[in-house]
Amino acid sequence: MTDAVTDAVTDAVTAALPAVDPIDDLRARESEKWTAYPADVLPLFVAEMDFALAPPIKAALAAALERSDTGYVNIRDLRTAQAFADFAADRWDWRPRVEAMGYATDVSTVVVEGLRRLIAPGEGVVITPPVYPPFWDFIDEAGGAVVEVPMLDDGTDYALDLDGIDRALTAGARAVLLCNPGNPTGTVHSRETLAELSRIVARHGASVISDEIHAPLVHAGATFTPYLTVSDEARDHAIVAASGSKAFNLAGLKTAMFVAESERMAALIHDLPEEVAVRAGLYGFIATREGFSRGRDWLDAAIATVEANLAVLQQQLDDHLPGVRLRRGRATYLAWLDFSALGLGDDPAEWILEHANVALVGGPAFGAPGAGFARLNVACAPEMIVEAVRRIAAALAKRG
Ligand SMILES: Cc1ncc(COP(=O)(O)O)c(C=O)c1O
Repeated sequence: MTDAVTDAVTDAVTAALPAVDPIDDLRARESEKWTAYPADVLPLFVAEMDFALAPPIKAALAAALERSDTGYVNIRDLRTAQAFADFAADRWDWRPRVEAMGYATDVSTVVVEGLRRLIAPGEGVVITPPVYPPFWDFIDEAGGAVVEVPMLDDGTDYALDLDGIDRALTAGARAVLLCNPGNPTGTVHSRETLAELSRIVARHGASVISDEIHAPLVHAGATFTPYLTVSDEARDHAIVAASGSKAFNLAGLKTAMFVAESERMAALIHDLPEEVAVRAGLYGFIATREGFSRGRDWLDAAIATVEANLAVLQQQLDDHLPGVRLRRGRATYLAWLDFSALGLGDDPAEWILEHANVALVGGPAFGAPGAGFARLNVACAPEMIVEAVRRIAAALAKRG
């Protein structure tokens, strides 16, 4: 970067706050969130943010465009991995070695390519619903068989069912695909839980892929625990999927990282075909590096905005939709809403789209425990949350 750009970036970050783009700018976006539905539908479904990009990311991408820098990534450029490692050290007291990391197109690729090498065809992989819907497809794509061990739900918090996972591994499953922290529940697994999981997995000689894409989005007061820090067993048998794509809204730019600690897992990453890394996007490299290094103020402001929006959502529900329960997680900008008291059936999102013109993700996509639930994205202007609740309440009032 030139000095002028560096200065501009430095100036911008100090003023960084996640502005929500005006609605016309949002409607001009070509991403899925703003093009999947007609203009009269409020799109609060897919996990994209409406916030303006972090200024350092925007400046670095603009500078790259300005120099017509649109070629391939240099997969030997470790600066993006280093930026993540520095972020992990500062935020989570974890210092991954860049030599034991690898690049990939996206987190989905890390999970699928990792699983392919950790299981034999047809072997079971444990997932813990309610969980990110593509997990079923990832396992299928990797040639595995899905083994569902639903999370325990005491009505307030969700937790991993460690006994259930133990039983699934005893019955032959060979890996666990962990969502750490959880999407859609926002569950931030405790160090004790993860350490116990690692002992169970080790006892069975199985493996873990820990999808930590939402880790940078843990809310104030909660502590994220990287799986690779919980025990020697975890370090031996796990790969982490890391990315800036959720934290900095970079999904379209296509960059993620494999992270390992043990020689065994580092070797697995190094033995991947070079093409796995080459398929990452240069703009993803640039943006991820800028986000983890100079986008931290913006990230903190984004998290604060998300938490404020969750409070707005809670207040709106209390005032206008008292039958709907927000299951408040401690990470991500995804609100997990229990509509079951309203009698809208297993998939309330279907009814809500049809009658209230609000697009949510229906709970059943996250597995059987999602029946009666829907997921709502609060990385938007608070006015949109107010409007979504107003529309749903009005539709329900009409239903009588
Ligand atoms: C838990 C989880 N994993 C993976 C992904 C997809 O990530 P990517 O776009 O990097 O493949 C998402 C997207 O929302 C997610 O929530």
